[in-house]
Amino acid sequence: MLRRLHSEQPESFAFTAENQKWAEAQLTKFPEGRQASAVIPLLWRAQEQEGWVSKPAIEYIADMLGMAYIRVLEVTSFYFMFQMQPTGSVAHVQICGTLSCMICGAEDLIAVCQDKIAPKPFTLSPDGKFTWEEVECLGACTNAPMAQIGKDYFEDLTAEGFAQMLDDLAAGKAVVPGPQNGRYAAEPVSGLTSLTEYDSGKTQYNASVQLAVDIGDSVKRIQGDEVPLLTPWVGKDGTVAGRVAAAQPPKAPEAPKPAAKQAAEAKKPAPKAETKPAAQELAEAAPEILKEARGGLPDDLKLLKGVGPKLEETLNELGFFHFDQIADWTEAEVAWVDSRLKFKGRIERDGWIAQAKKLAVGDETEFAKRAKKDGIYEDE
Ligand code: FES
Repeated sequence: MLRRLHSEQPESFAFTAENQKWAEAQLTKFPEGRQASAVIPLLWRAQEQEGWVSKPAIEYIADMLGMAYIRVLEVTSFYFMFQMQPTGSVAHVQICGTLSCMICGAEDLIAVCQDKIAPKPFTLSPDGKFTWEEVECLGACTNAPMAQIGKDYFEDLTAEGFAQMLDDLAAGKAVVPGPQNGRYAAEPVSGLTSLTEYDSGKTQYNASVQLAVDIGDSVKRIQGDEVPLLTPWVGKDGTVAGRVAAAQPPKAPEAPKPAAKQAAEAKKPAPKAETKPAAQELAEAAPEILKEARGGLPDDLKLLKGVGPKLEETLNELGFFHFDQIADWTEAEVAWVDSRLKFKGRIERDGWIAQAKKLAVGDETEFAKRAKKDGIYEDE
């Protein structure tokens, strides 16, 4: 299935104040510099808020996480759980069409969707209230056929009951999720055959259904007014395993930037120095770096075996322009540089320092001779 940005996009996106607070709290779960790890929860929250993930939402989240827009678009288009087109204002219905559900009547449920919503999936119903799609097994096979709507499973469905459920939802009525045939959960249809002693003292519904019923709206999209979830494994004193957890509140997102600025920023090297775990920082030391090549004449670092044009550019950006700079790196400085390169270990593997020592004093290396003669350099 082709997954791309929808042809019609809203002007802008912003989290509600509560969702913003929640989203910022998510960032505290990850070490400084690894905030991109929150991309899926934030996209999911955006979808819960809006019903789908729009281009402005992708850009907003990318800005919040310091990611290039394309990276967030890649995540969005990769995972089918993200809807990339507008969904029904009341519900997006996901019908399981895999084996158990298929042999127990999934086709009848799909026929109901085609009749009541739209002949084709991902198409808004005439009143804009519903969309539907067929999905792969949702793991409730014992209760086939089933559908997921919002956060809830509707199981043991019949075509008639399902059609009535859609009518009720359209009319604004609350519907009860879970098994629709009187089952409590996934026990045998004929009743419990074991562990019967646990049959007493149950709540009216199983836990997830009870929660939906208590909320009073089984397809309610997230309101964002829950207590923001701060890193749950951090103690109240803010420490965990001897380290201090993120003490600073996460940054509020800036307004979305123009695409050109974003593209330019995407090209910049990431703020790598801030992403190192504390233990690693101790083992590293920044070597002497230059703002520019001495006398405006950089050495041709591509004469080092293992350094191609891209790597030379990276080294220049880090502040290395001359062989003698590289020749002087200590072990800790090598660690500092290595941690800022895309492919680790090549300084040592390719013997940059030994090569640089020779080249710095005007000697040649076999590789440098060949490179100069043939004009062939290594690439990353
Ligand atoms: S086959 Fe439908 S939930 Fe598994």
